[in-house]
Amino acid sequence: MKKTKIFGILMTSIFLFAFCVTIFAQDAVKIDPTQLFKDKKCIACHSVDGAGIASTNPNHKAPDLSATGTKYKADFLIKFLSKEETINDKKHGMKFNGTDDEFKALTDWLASLKPADAK
Ligand code: HEC
Repeated sequence: MKKTKIFGILMTSIFLFAFCVTIFAQDAVKIDPTQLFKDKKCIACHSVDGAGIASTNPNHKAPDLSATGTKYKADFLIKFLSKEETINDKKHGMKFNGTDDEFKALTDWLASLKPADAK
């Protein structure tokens, strides 16, 4: 009787552990960079015409980011958006605020943006 109980507890623990791992693993792949772009307010200053994203501020002065991938690598963008690197001697106006996974998803996406005619 006692053994069955221990076995039951053990199986429940294993099940719960596997369940948690699955949930977290799914969370990691679920990050949508275009959603982050909106949630982190990048969209208040930038548009990404190439991805069909219009800025919420029609008078924005910040550059369109559709060709970011032709100019910068993801590693550089992480530094630039952490205010550790400059473009034209200027640091970016705002620091990215989020998890490392989100930051990676966002910068990987930005670094992949290239106009259709660019090689
Ligand atoms: C308050 C306005 C503002 C917000 C919000 C903003 N940016 Fe910017 N960003 C700028 C401006 C202005 C520039 C042009 C360079 C400069 O003066 O810093 C720029 C430059 C950039 C560049 C380089 C573009 C190029 O072609 O040189 C990237 C990439 C970028 N921003 C990404 C982002 C991301 C990602 C976010 C959201 C996490 C964001 N920006 C939020 C204003 C903003």
